[in-house]
Amino acid sequence: MNNNNMLQEWPETIVRVQSLSDSGLTSIPDRYVKPPNERPSVDGNDNDESTTSQYGASSNDANIPVVDLSGVDSEDGSVRAETLRRVSEACREWGFFQVVNHGVSHELMDRALGVWREFFHLPIETKQLYANSPRTYEGYGSRLGVQKGAILDWSDYYFLHYLPSNLKDYNKWPHLPTNCRKVIEEYGREVVKLGGRLLKVFSVNLGLEEGFLQNAFGGEEIGACLRVNYYPKCPQPELALGLSSHSDPGGMTLLLPDDQVTGLQVRKDASWITVKPAPHAFIVNIGDQIQVLSNAIYKSVEHRVVVNSGKERLSMAFFYNPKSDIPLEPAKELVTPDQPALYTPMTFDEYRLFIRLRGPRGKSQVESLKSPR
Ligand code: OGA
Ligand code: NI
Repeated sequence: MNNNNMLQEWPETIVRVQSLSDSGLTSIPDRYVKPPNERPSVDGNDNDESTTSQYGASSNDANIPVVDLSGVDSEDGSVRAETLRRVSEACREWGFFQVVNHGVSHELMDRALGVWREFFHLPIETKQLYANSPRTYEGYGSRLGVQKGAILDWSDYYFLHYLPSNLKDYNKWPHLPTNCRKVIEEYGREVVKLGGRLLKVFSVNLGLEEGFLQNAFGGEEIGACLRVNYYPKCPQPELALGLSSHSDPGGMTLLLPDDQVTGLQVRKDASWITVKPAPHAFIVNIGDQIQVLSNAIYKSVEHRVVVNSGKERLSMAFFYNPKSDIPLEPAKELVTPDQPALYTPMTFDEYRLFIRLRGPRGKSQVESLKSPR
């Protein structure tokens, strides 16, 4: 079967993780049991203290950097310089940081989390109206990738397009709760603005002209989509993952995490660091396309989500992406005899086909793009 045929329908009957969780089972089906080396709490490198913090005691205080973004617009040149430096360091050393004083209304952020919590608590029949297929992934889903027999993640999600306008289809957005579409619309507008500001900071930090990355992304014609992740309670969290290790395929991600429950872990060298969200912060991370454009000066970093038996968790991942049909390659300014281009040109459309087929797989995808040297 060719790729397009494979992407028409799911290879197996879809089971909503929420229904499994609600059924009160005490052990999880084999389909959700990760191989021992991928489980969140096992011997070896993965068995770091930050992982155990999910389950209580932790002696690891490491966290991704927190940046006060208001410093970017400071009148005081030294404050601005220090803010840019902190973003630069975070991009190089972590691929992840949190921003506070980012300009997006806290009340809107709370409202957005609220409508999606309401959505996921609607009756299953209502949600089923939006059941998605691997063709576009839009709608209510419970798996990524179409490989038959794959081990699945302990989560359901909702995926929708916000930009470009021709892909934005209100019929594929939930009509309930009643204010859902309005809130998504407003939220998207604010977060796109924030994304644009961050691209400028990244461009300047890379020594490029301020508008470089925005232009490379297609200017006004960027893509943007939202994936709302819903992680139900899991009776055996030590065997499963809410979301397997992956790097984000797009440009950059602005994540609004649950304000009550942690779960996101970021790879730092050989260990997994549990992100402790600052109140009303966005978690920003570099995606594969910025890794490509920056010729790997910035790296998209692997991350995953662990689940727990006590509380469900919800997060909103807003993906700020390049226009999908322009070939992306390392910025010429960042290619030198010492640092030759690491990637050959590829459009984001071509790139994301891999993930739609294979599901989340660490960084295997961007690694496979490397030009032969
Ligand atoms: C994602 C993601 C993290 C989270 O949706 O790509 O990494 O905390 N989500 O849900
Ligand atoms: Ni991600």
